[in-house]
Amino acid sequence: MQQPIPEPDFYRPVSYSRTTLTELMIPSYANFGGKIHGGILLSLMDKVAYACAAKHAGNYCVTVTVDGVNFLQPVEVGELVSLMASVNYVGRTSLLVGIKVIAENVKTRTVKHTNTSYFTMVAKGEDDKPAKVPGLLLETPDDVRRFMEAQQRKEIKARYEQEFKAIKTELELRQNVASLVGQRCQVAFEL
Ligand SMILES: CC(C)(COP(=O)(O)OP(=O)(O)OC[C@H]1O[C@@H](n2cnc3c(N)ncnc32)[C@H](O)[C@@H]1OP(=O)(O)O)[C@@H](O)C(=O)NCCC(=O)NCCS
Repeated sequence: MQQPIPEPDFYRPVSYSRTTLTELMIPSYANFGGKIHGGILLSLMDKVAYACAAKHAGNYCVTVTVDGVNFLQPVEVGELVSLMASVNYVGRTSLLVGIKVIAENVKTRTVKHTNTSYFTMVAKGEDDKPAKVPGLLLETPDDVRRFMEAQQRKEIKARYEQEFKAIKTELELRQNVASLVGQRCQVAFEL
C-alpha cells in the first residue's frame, strides 16, 4: 500500500507574531470603587491574544480557554496598560498565547505587573473547521522554556480535569457532607 506523503511542515518564528497593545485607562473603564473593571482588561487580553494568534496562524482564530487570570493589583484610571503577547506553544490547530500585563503610572514612572495569563486559541479555516497552524520556530532560550512550560501545563490540566471528572461522578452528597465542616457555608435543607 502506498504511504501518504507527509505535508511539509512550515515554521514561523515566535518574533513574527509577538504583539504589544498599549491602552490608556480612561474614567469610563472604572468601576464604582474607581478602579478599572476586570472585564475591560479581559477584553483587551482577548483582543491581543487574537491579534497574536491570527498573525501566527494566518487565519481567523477563536478563543477556547483562558487560564491563570488572577488580578493581583488594581489598575487605576490614568495608567497606561500594556499587554505583551507571544505564541508560547502550538498544537495541530491550537495555539497557546501567553500575555503579560503591566500598568504604568507615567508621572511616577512606577510599573506594576498585574497578571500573566494564557489564552488557548484555535485557528479556523474557510469551512469554519479547525485549521492546521504553522509550527513554532523557537529563537531564544526563553522561547524554549515557555514551550516546555506550556507542555507541562497542558499535561497537568488534562490530569486535573480527568481527576475532577472522576470525583464529580463519585460525589455522593450525603456521604461527603463531613467535608463541609469548617467551611464557610450552611446547608439550608435536609440532606
Ligand atoms: C474550539 C473549537 C473549534 C473546537 O472544536 P472541536 O470540534 O472540538 O475541534 P477539535 O476536537 O479538532 O479540537 C481542535 C483543537 O482545539 C483544542 N481544544 C478543544 N477543546 C479544548 C479545550 N477545552 N481546551 C484546550 N484546547 C481545546 C484541541 O486540543 C485541538 O487542538 P490541536 O489541534 O492543537 O490538538 C469549538 O469548540 C468552537 O468553535 N468553540 C467556540 C469558540 C468560540 O466561538 N469562542 C469565542 C468565544 S464565545
